[in-house]
Amino acid sequence: MLREGKKERRELDHTSPFAIITGASRGIGAEYARALVGQGYDVLLIARDRTRLENLRQELQQTTKKEIWMESLDLSQPHAAETLHDMARSYRSEISLLINNAGFGIYGDFAEIPPSTIQNMLQLHMNTIVESIRLFLPDMLARKQGSIITIASVAGFFPIPYITEYAATKAFLIAFSEGLARETQNQGVTIQVCCPGFTETDFHQTAGHQPKHVLFPQSAQQVVQTSLEALQSKRTLVTIGWQGRLALWISKIIPHRILMAFAGKAVKPPSTTNLR
Ligand SMILES: NC(=O)c1ccc[n+]([C@@H]2O[C@H](COP(=O)([O-])OP(=O)(O)OC[C@H]3O[C@@H](n4cnc5c(N)ncnc54)[C@H](OP(=O)(O)O)[C@@H]3O)[C@@H](O)[C@H]2O)c1
Repeated sequence: MLREGKKERRELDHTSPFAIITGASRGIGAEYARALVGQGYDVLLIARDRTRLENLRQELQQTTKKEIWMESLDLSQPHAAETLHDMARSYRSEISLLINNAGFGIYGDFAEIPPSTIQNMLQLHMNTIVESIRLFLPDMLARKQGSIITIASVAGFFPIPYITEYAATKAFLIAFSEGLARETQNQGVTIQVCCPGFTETDFHQTAGHQPKHVLFPQSAQQVVQTSLEALQSKRTLVTIGWQGRLALWISKIIPHRILMAFAGKAVKPPSTTNLR
C-alpha cells in the first residue's frame, strides 16, 4: 500500500531515466551505480547483501537528490527474473536501462565442483538473464527506447579449462546478445555485451583463486566508463582498453586448442581443494 502511494508520486515526476543494476552491492555493479547516479539516473540496486546495498545507497544519496532504491534478491533462484521485473515495475513503469551484471567465478576441476554451485551459475549467468531480457525488452521495443547491458568477459572469447563452466556461460551471453542486437536493430533499443578482462574487484577472492601475477589489470571505473561511452555509440560487443581489443583479436586468429593450452596453465589452481 505504501509502495503504491509512493509509486503514484514517482510516476508524476518521471523525467529522470531509470536504471536497474544487478550485482550492485560491490565491484563493477557498484561503479555502474555511481556513474549512472552522476548522469542523473534514478537507480534500483539489486544484490543479496542488504547491508552492502544499504551502505552504497547511503553513499549515493549524499551526492544526489535522485531516487536510489535497493532490493535484496538472489538471482540464482528459479523465477528470480519475474520477481526482478515485478520489483522494478513497482517503482517505475518505464525502465530505461537494465544492467545484467551479477555473477561469480569458480576455479578448478569441473568434476569436483558441487552440483549446486554449477546449477547456481547456470541459473544466474544464463536463465535469469535471458528471462529478464525477455520480460523487459518488449516494453522497450514498444517505446522504441531503452538499453540492456549484459556483463560477459574476455573469458567468453574461447574455451578455458579450469574455469570451463564460467567461460562457457560468458560465451553464451556474447552469442545471445550479438544475435539479439541484430534481431532488434533499428528499433530504438541498444543491446550491449560488455567483456571486461581481469578487473580489480572481490570477484577473484570470492571465486577462491587470486592469481599471483596479473598483467595490466583493469579498474571497475575503467570498465564502466568504457561501457557507458559505448552505449552512446550503440556498439554491441564492448571490450576494455587495448588489452580487450588484443584478447578479441588473438581469439580470432590463433587456434583455440593453442589458446586453451596457455590459458589452462595460467588459470589452473595449484590445488583443487577448498573449492566451494
Ligand atoms: N572482476 C573481473 O576480473 C571480471 C572480469 C570479467 C567479467 N567480470 C564479470 O563482471 C561481473 C561483476 O563482477 P565483479 O568483478 O564486480 O565481482 P564482485 O565484486 O564479486 O561482484 C559481484 C556482484 O554480483 C552479486 N551477486 C553474486 N551472486 C548473486 C546472486 N546469486 N544474486 C544476486 N546478486 C549476486 C554480488 O552481490 P551479493 O554477493 O551481495 O549478492 C556482487 O554485487 C560478473 O558478471 C563477472 O563475471 C568480472
